[in-house]
Amino acid sequence: TVIVVDFGGQYNQLVARRVRECNVYCEIYSYKTDIEKIKEMNPKGIILTGGPNSCYEDGAPTYTKELFELGIPVLGLCYGAQLMQHILGGRVERADIREYGKTEVFVETGSRLFTGVSPSTICWMSHFDYISKVAPGFQICAYTADCPTAAAEYPEKNLYAIQFHPEVLHTVEGKTMLSNFVHDICGCAGEWRMDSFVENSIREIREKVGDGKVLCALSGGVDSSVAAVLLSKAIGDQLTCVFVDQGLLRKNEGDEVEAVFGPEGSYDLNFIRVNAQERFYEKLKGVEEPEAKRKIIGEEFIRVFEEEAKKIGAVDFLVQGTIYPDVVESGLGGESAVIKSHHNVGGLPDCVDFKEIIEPLRDLFKDEVRQAGLQLGIPEYLVFRQPFPGPGLGIRIISEVNAEKVRIVQDADAIYREEIANAGLDRDINQYFAALTNMRSVGVMGDERTYDYAVALRAVKTIDFMTAESAELPYEVLNKVMSRIINEVKGVNRVFYDLTSKPPGTIEFE
Ligand code: XMP
Repeated sequence: TVIVVDFGGQYNQLVARRVRECNVYCEIYSYKTDIEKIKEMNPKGIILTGGPNSCYEDGAPTYTKELFELGIPVLGLCYGAQLMQHILGGRVERADIREYGKTEVFVETGSRLFTGVSPSTICWMSHFDYISKVAPGFQICAYTADCPTAAAEYPEKNLYAIQFHPEVLHTVEGKTMLSNFVHDICGCAGEWRMDSFVENSIREIREKVGDGKVLCALSGGVDSSVAAVLLSKAIGDQLTCVFVDQGLLRKNEGDEVEAVFGPEGSYDLNFIRVNAQERFYEKLKGVEEPEAKRKIIGEEFIRVFEEEAKKIGAVDFLVQGTIYPDVVESGLGGESAVIKSHHNVGGLPDCVDFKEIIEPLRDLFKDEVRQAGLQLGIPEYLVFRQPFPGPGLGIRIISEVNAEKVRIVQDADAIYREEIANAGLDRDINQYFAALTNMRSVGVMGDERTYDYAVALRAVKTIDFMTAESAELPYEVLNKVMSRIINEVKGVNRVFYDLTSKPPGTIEFE
């Protein structure tokens, strides 16, 4: 295991991801984590991430010097590099020239960190402080035109500091550098694969659950499906999956989920479908504010689970399909700011009477969840289903939700998906859906005035759902979708295509 110590930088989850791409298991912990805990884990290497602060300022995140005396290799990145130098007696100062973006870096190829890296290589820089003097024992092993210390090392102690960001893909040879660190310097074998994840998870779940009863929140999306199958493989029918049809699913989705996981399906588990449509619409009546809607949907979910749990007797654990980006964006994963309160993460009301929550996918990225799904033998069409948010269509209907609006967005979305598939684009676009704006406008149809809603189409390309760009859909596809939606979906007379990237937009509308 490699441990990533999080100092609040925006690329931190990428660090973990790159390490795992080297087939080395890794976990992220806040810089507030006690050193004793890190010692207990006995990691083969430690990576200190970037962060927004200046390490020489009062109150800036720091770590005990002992970390560098454990004999475990440490790699500091950006803030982590500066902090390492600062703590060990080097000097960090505000730079005259802030370096940002792709930068040519000259590296010492004799350094173990840079084995196999070109002497001059493009790296991603993002810093305003710089290391003006390295700590005793360190030597500089990379520099740029503006930055004397782009990297420094103390090979005898296995301490390495990199000012730029090898985890970002713009650092062309970043992967080689991280691989050099985890494989060559830390001595990790690089044998970690998704199958070990699956095996380990099954073992851990069995140990944790014993003969307890487990209740799983199944939504039919990729994440909760993979979580459910993982649990079903581990504990069979000790698992009960409750599938709440909250009336905010895609068209026909409820029946599709039932077909896969229900009694006719292929998994060993108890399946309960709850038709709670009316109940959710009632709660959402008159509610316009996105966070309020998310909270209501999330809480109502929990209420429904509680009721089901009571019906089946004592339940010891609740499973949720939370994945890593949910954790990060909800501000629970580390030190970064809250963007949206993802409804399947944390924040359970006090009165929930489950003993504990199990989140087997909490450390995985979306594509890793899919790999795990394939590993578990889940059908491809399910594994590659595009992501669907926990609050469902509730956050794709801007402002108030009601049954009529749900029907509109379901029908529009079904047409959109059908045409994207017809055009053979469904595997190229990572997420696409129709949303219902809260705007009505005047149109004309068959010589009649109309005053109807506008549908917004969204399609994004993304790798990790943390950043995204709108997809360049062919005009004829968009045109066809537009004309079909207006002709076939009653209540719509205008269609927009959303060009916004993330950031500054988010993928969903609320
Ligand atoms: P945003 O809108 O934050 O979405 O850019 C990023 C990804 O997360 C999905 N999403 C959610 N998933 N519960 C989920 O399970 C949620 O509350 C939630 N909100 C957004 C969204 O569909 C996209 O894939």
